[in-house]
Amino acid sequence: MVEFSLPRGTMDFLPEEMAQRRYVEDIVRKTFESFGFQEVQTPIFEEFALLAARSGEEIREGMFTFMADEVEYALRPEVTAAVCRMIVTGKIALPKPYKVYYLGPCFRYEEPQAGRYRQFWQAGIELMGSQSPVADAEVICVGAKTLENVGITPYRLKVGNIGIFRGILEDVGLDLEDQNRIIGNIDGIMSNREKCALIAEKKELGIDDQNYIKTYLNLLYDMQMGLINEGIEVVGEYEILPSALENLSLWVDTLPTVMEQTYRAAWIAEGMPEKTVDLLLEVSRVSGARSDVMPRAQVLLKGSAAETPLQELDKVLSNLEAFGVTNYEVVLGVARGLDYYTGTVFEFDVPLLGAQKQVCGGGRYDRLVEEFGGPPTPATGYAFGFDRIVLSRLLVKEIPVPRKVDVFIAVVDESLGQNAIQISQGLRERGYKVEIEMTQRDLKGQLGYASEIKAKYCVILGPRELREGKVMLKNLDTEEQAAVLLGELTEVIGKEKAGIED
Ligand code: HAM
Repeated sequence: MVEFSLPRGTMDFLPEEMAQRRYVEDIVRKTFESFGFQEVQTPIFEEFALLAARSGEEIREGMFTFMADEVEYALRPEVTAAVCRMIVTGKIALPKPYKVYYLGPCFRYEEPQAGRYRQFWQAGIELMGSQSPVADAEVICVGAKTLENVGITPYRLKVGNIGIFRGILEDVGLDLEDQNRIIGNIDGIMSNREKCALIAEKKELGIDDQNYIKTYLNLLYDMQMGLINEGIEVVGEYEILPSALENLSLWVDTLPTVMEQTYRAAWIAEGMPEKTVDLLLEVSRVSGARSDVMPRAQVLLKGSAAETPLQELDKVLSNLEAFGVTNYEVVLGVARGLDYYTGTVFEFDVPLLGAQKQVCGGGRYDRLVEEFGGPPTPATGYAFGFDRIVLSRLLVKEIPVPRKVDVFIAVVDESLGQNAIQISQGLRERGYKVEIEMTQRDLKGQLGYASEIKAKYCVILGPRELREGKVMLKNLDTEEQAAVLLGELTEVIGKEKAGIED
């Protein structure tokens, strides 16, 4: 016999899990809609070229692709590119700004682990057609409200502006491609710092941690060898020797610095001025309260093209505070893994989740619609990792699951099956969830099943009672049982409807 297994990195959801997901989904939708966002849906697959255009190297290389009609397609790794395509190809005639949301599956070929899947769900919003800092602030506020409404606290909100890195790189003449590559490197440095800090909190390295450190050491070792082969001996005390690859736990504290220094050497080797390289690294470390960060950053960035995005960031923050969101941290190093961001960038983390703690990421992408052939359309948005939201909520507080059915109709003998059908239809018309017997169990088995599925009532049909126009009604919560006139059944149950709906 052939044995099939669940594809790696995917999940089945059983009824209880689906009920929990629907509960969270409902809150997410209501929150999005309370700010005027309307739902849209785009296909699960799109042309690979569209999805790859500005997705960043990591996402580009992790797409599930296939050919059809000689076109290369991919399962979508995210939805923003598809929404921009929809705006362009659909010639949308909605009044601006467009405020749309989506909730659906995305696919990335990743190494699966807790909270990181190959098929996962994103719930996102896109606000298109506004350049105002109010738009960025509102989008961030919707994120904060969503988490609060779902009941997820504490969370950490980091806000930055990717234009600051772009400005520093523009100052030395780097084009968009090179900017994206360097910003991708900074994103790697930032996540490495966070990951190593998490690992450092553990008493012992798990197998995943060891693999993580090994992967990065090998990557940096190769980079360093490349530099050394070119005659550039710039890594000095941070050089990784092959023998050092054995003792992984020694690297937890130093790996982030080694990574920074290796990239520092590589950037200088490709001709970037040392001053710029050091500024990039210094900016990536600036974080804290607005009142501390802003004056410090103004000094650091004086005279640079990065001054304008810094001012933009300040305006977004003051609007964010007007929305009542003050529990944020300014983190100038937020770099994001996607290439399309042009301004504000932000992330929400839920520390309770551990390694995969980022539940939401987003930012401003003012050029994407235009790059896909549409009119200039400044835009901002984000996506929640929906599965991580559900996980977070379950860690904080259980999710109430509604009853499968309110009423189960049992029959003393099979010949009463059609009476059960009739009664069940009547009850359903009055809004009850009802199930009838259909497996030829004896009465004891039927009552056992009704309790197992946590029905509130069991209606028992017997020939004698039916001849008298009655049924037995058993309250499975209290175990009380009484004969009830068939004509009064819904009324009796109805009196306790409030109890049924809990
Ligand atoms: P992203 O940061 O790549 O941004 O993904 C958004 C969120 O999706 C992440 O914060 C994370 O919670 C979740 N996520 C990503 N990969 C996985 C995975 N393998 N398993 C589980 N969850 C995952 C975007 O996708 C942008 N399109 C967001 C955006 C919208 N920016 C502007 N508009």
